[in-house]
Amino acid sequence: MPQAKPHGFPNESSPTSWTNWIRHGFGVWALVDKMSGVLLGQCGLNHLPPGDEIEVLYLLERACWGQGLATEAAAAALRCGFDELSLERIVGITLAGNAASQRVLEKVGLRYEKDARFFDCDCRYYACDRPKRTASPDPAQALRRPGSETFPSLER
Ligand SMILES: CC(C)(COP(=O)(O)OP(=O)(O)OC[C@H]1O[C@@H](n2cnc3c(N)ncnc32)[C@H](O)[C@@H]1OP(=O)(O)O)[C@@H](O)C(=O)NCCC(=O)NCCS
Repeated sequence: MPQAKPHGFPNESSPTSWTNWIRHGFGVWALVDKMSGVLLGQCGLNHLPPGDEIEVLYLLERACWGQGLATEAAAAALRCGFDELSLERIVGITLAGNAASQRVLEKVGLRYEKDARFFDCDCRYYACDRPKRTASPDPAQALRRPGSETFPSLER
């Protein structure tokens, strides 16, 4: 599993997830099939260079594409970022032509904000602010953001 290029960008060289774990206490997790123990990919939260923003990122083995796994994993990472780490904002970047990754970000509630350059590549930049908590006792309601669906359930 390529660790040095978590976005799969050709010129990418970002701090590794290990650096992020050591400095900040969070990073990228392995995605493992519960039944077989096989490594399927990686997903998590990382600092997006050169600024201080936190991004959600994911990478799956090709054989696993198209099963909703990136969406499920990204949704779990967002829940962790907002609920456990109390982040105020999570962003996501994709190569301009990576429609599948853009769809994943949209499905978990990030919105397209702008075109931008990262790692010397033309990218699309998405973002999601911390969901507003309400007095509702229903946790699903509390996670719902205007104009978006709730985060998908992890139950399968
Ligand atoms: C991008 C990636 C993570 C998606 O993983 P995945 O598990 O197949 O994603 P999901 O199944 O959760 O969702 C993919 C969505 O994109 C859609 N999609 C797939 N290919 C598409 C395409 N060429 N154009 C438009 N939509 C596309 C799927 O239909 C699905 O949307 P839907 O549920 O509305 O039908 C996977 O392809 C991957 O690892 N790619 C290489 C690394 C990478 O690009 N990482 C992201 C870096 S920003």
